[in-house]
Amino acid sequence: MRPTELRGVLQYVPRFRDKFVVLCLDASVVMHENFSNLLVDIAVMRSLNIQVGIAHGAAAEMERIAGDRGLTLSDLTGSGITDAATLEVASEASNHISQTILEGLASVDLKGAITNAVEAHPVGILKGVDHQFSGKIERVDAGFIQSLLQNNIIPVVPCVIGNGQRILFRINSDQAAFSLATNLNAVKIIYLTEHPGLVLDGELVKQIASSDVEQLLKDPVASISPAMHSKLRFAWRACRAGISRVHIINGTRDGDLLHEIFSPEGIGTLIYSNDFQQIRQATDTDVRSILAMTKDGVEADELIARTRHDIEGNLNDYHLFISNGQIVGCVAFHIEPGSAIGELAYLFVHPDHENQGIGKKLVKFVEEKARQSGLEALVALSTQTFSYFVQKAGFEEGTPDDLPPSRRKRYFNSGRKSKILIKRLNR
Ligand SMILES: CC(C)(COP(=O)(O)OP(=O)(O)OC[C@H]1O[C@@H](n2cnc3c(N)ncnc32)[C@H](O)[C@@H]1OP(=O)(O)O)[C@@H](O)C(=O)NCCC(=O)NCCS
Repeated sequence: MRPTELRGVLQYVPRFRDKFVVLCLDASVVMHENFSNLLVDIAVMRSLNIQVGIAHGAAAEMERIAGDRGLTLSDLTGSGITDAATLEVASEASNHISQTILEGLASVDLKGAITNAVEAHPVGILKGVDHQFSGKIERVDAGFIQSLLQNNIIPVVPCVIGNGQRILFRINSDQAAFSLATNLNAVKIIYLTEHPGLVLDGELVKQIASSDVEQLLKDPVASISPAMHSKLRFAWRACRAGISRVHIINGTRDGDLLHEIFSPEGIGTLIYSNDFQQIRQATDTDVRSILAMTKDGVEADELIARTRHDIEGNLNDYHLFISNGQIVGCVAFHIEPGSAIGELAYLFVHPDHENQGIGKKLVKFVEEKARQSGLEALVALSTQTFSYFVQKAGFEEGTPDDLPPSRRKRYFNSGRKSKILIKRLNR
């Protein structure tokens, strides 16, 4: 790592300092050779004062035990029916995974504790079928978990837990992570699996809104494995419960956890709550980020260079598209005093976020503002993107006569010979 890369990482530190993040580890991740790297990454998170809680599954370990002993299990994931024999295997597997996690945490000088702060009750009889020893979470003792966190102890929630009356139930670890996160106001849940994230039609989905996840869960032809279905279901519920970001990443690949947290583009699948994307006015603390983001666009001559002074002088004109807490796009809306024509300018979307409709949303946003201001038309000047304005944003090609007089003068003085695009708003 180059020392200068630290700057990029450090911008995330204030955002996550003292915040609670839930990691949900599939057993296959805990049993994988990369687990030792993952533990170091958890130690890095703790060293930056990010509070961490862990929930874990047992499926891969249950499969191993059942294979060794020639047993047939009634369910692996905690979502189906758990018979007595399966509960026994689940219990043994869960203990083994919990212990492996505790030993691993100790190996990187972190303290952890398996907690009984979570209580379950039986799933019961669903559509006439008794789910026997499958449980769902009834209660999370948030105060207990808080006291562990305050004492720098990472709580570890297993996937076989009791009901307070010495009866054990197999629970779904995705639900355990969800319950832990919602009861302790976590900022995010990260599901660590042995897959890169959500893959649809052979393509990794990098970001998906919770409303789209809802549709996907209802889609009978969507090809999603039961394990991924469960993660998506709890991710969607977490977003609804106010946790704005849930990640599904590959826990068996070195570096993915830190990459997901400390880089703008992430590496797995991000499920975000719908109000998590927004357009807001720029503030003076954003100017540096705007200039950094648009640097390549200026160098490619797609945008006219603007100085810090130019932006600060008209700060109210600048609007930013925020996704996942990051500035990923910008647009400026200028009105010459007394003019009935506004100008949309400095439209830019970060290349990592192109083709997600962000450009159109920024154009629409400005259009709406122009309408609200009672303007007759909106113009945009472009040397390379005129076809976007025409084909995607409903503009048509105009002439210098369409520009307000003072703008026309600057247009001719600049010598850029940009195309003039105009959208009349009274149609
Ligand atoms: C042009 C720009 C703002 C588009 O942003 P975006 O968020 O990627 O665009 P959207 O997601 O809203 O739209 C994507 C669609 O526009 C198309 N598109 C992108 N650039 C285009 C162009 N120059 N001409 C025609 N179509 C274009 C895409 O192919 C895609 O088509 P589809 O919907 O049929 O798949 C972005 O590419 C950018 O920042 N470009 C550099 C800066 C620039 O030129 N700014 C304009 C000067 S004011």
